[in-house]
Amino acid sequence: MLNTFQQASHPMLPKMTHDEAARQEFAKSFKGFIQGKLLPGLGPVYASRVSKAFEKANGRPPADRRDIRAGMVRELYFQHYAAANRIAQELLWEATNISVDRELPELIEKARELSASTTAVLDIPASFETPRYVTALDIHCMPGGYATEVTKDDVSTGVLYDRGVYLYAMGYMGPYNDDMGRSVCNYVKRNLKGFQPRRILDMGCTVGHSTLPFKEMFPDAEVWGIDVAAPQVRYAHARAAGLGLEVNFAQMNAEETRFPDGYFDLVVSHILLHETSGKAMPRIFKECERLLAPGGYMIHADLPPFNLMDPFTQFILDNETWYNNEPFWGAMRELDQPALAKAAGFDPAEVRFDTAPMAVMEFAAQAAGGYSEDAATAVAEREFTAGEYAPGGGWEVLIAHKAAASAHQKAA
Ligand SMILES: C[S@@+](CC[C@H](N)C(=O)[O-])C[C@H]1O[C@@H](n2cnc3c(N)ncnc32)[C@H](O)[C@@H]1O
Repeated sequence: MLNTFQQASHPMLPKMTHDEAARQEFAKSFKGFIQGKLLPGLGPVYASRVSKAFEKANGRPPADRRDIRAGMVRELYFQHYAAANRIAQELLWEATNISVDRELPELIEKARELSASTTAVLDIPASFETPRYVTALDIHCMPGGYATEVTKDDVSTGVLYDRGVYLYAMGYMGPYNDDMGRSVCNYVKRNLKGFQPRRILDMGCTVGHSTLPFKEMFPDAEVWGIDVAAPQVRYAHARAAGLGLEVNFAQMNAEETRFPDGYFDLVVSHILLHETSGKAMPRIFKECERLLAPGGYMIHADLPPFNLMDPFTQFILDNETWYNNEPFWGAMRELDQPALAKAAGFDPAEVRFDTAPMAVMEFAAQAAGGYSEDAATAVAEREFTAGEYAPGGGWEVLIAHKAAASAHQKAA
């Protein structure tokens, strides 16, 4: 039985005192309360008041998230919801940071020991320019953002992310926070039958949550995680070693990596794209195309673009842009990602969106005896209201295939 109600322990997580654990549990439960009790109240406010008032004033129903937002922000109930959400977010980082700060010297030492115990590569160059879209603000209100370093060999923002994301996800990402990677691996195994990647790259890996399932599911493959934030890859390398997996990590920019042409068979990312920028995204797609061997696949997992959601869901999810320091969250969902992938050189006939069912839901269905190939729709033992995670119980994947003879080769 998969226990998603407690984070699985590993050597790089800080030990919490009783009070710290209680604070963190409170932050997680508070988020659960907002998600489970306050969020459902927004629908009736919209249907009974905002939608009607809009229609009366404009002679038409609200058409998109902007129309909905204009009315909802004036509603006391929405203001209360949005404020509570922001407070919960700040609280969960604060509650986690107390343990991180207290244990930092021991955690840095532990990371050094673990990293020295593995033959997997850790590549952090002496000088590196982290893009401004990562450093300009504390994304999703995480103090210090991803890349801040305050001491030699700093891992603090990595620890903070690992624990904080578990609380944020309230178990939806599984005990190792690895649901996205696991779901994409399942997708590859089921849908790309016979595809055996020899080298796999995970872009924007942070602490390697989604990277490690690729090593687990493709044990013979050479697996790499890259990120622009040094403390994240440092922590990721130590965490992977602590969990007994040989995975390589490097500080690199997905827009322009240091790998040779055609080095990988599979390039993936998980919720990376919405934290980049309108200029970076096309560059990342081009870099994926360059890095792939002919016949390889690029898969980017995230939430769906807005045109695949109803306007009310768009409005709810776009609160990330407005209240959670995620400036590119909404704009990214309006870009024509398949067009960008085609422009980057991928086979136009083989670029598409698809859904990778959430692995945690499949585990739950399995435990309830309801597992089948169609397990995403099977009855889960635990009730998952996907909320702002993966509407419809799945991760949206943009999948693109590099033709066996690439566009560049054909042109040459
Ligand atoms: C939301 S996190 C990704 C989470 C991670 N993929 C997972 O599944 O747990 C976004 C990460 O992308 C990194 N990032 C942003 N822009 C990047 C770029 N151009 N190249 C590499 N990493 C980048 C950030 O530093 C951050 O660690």
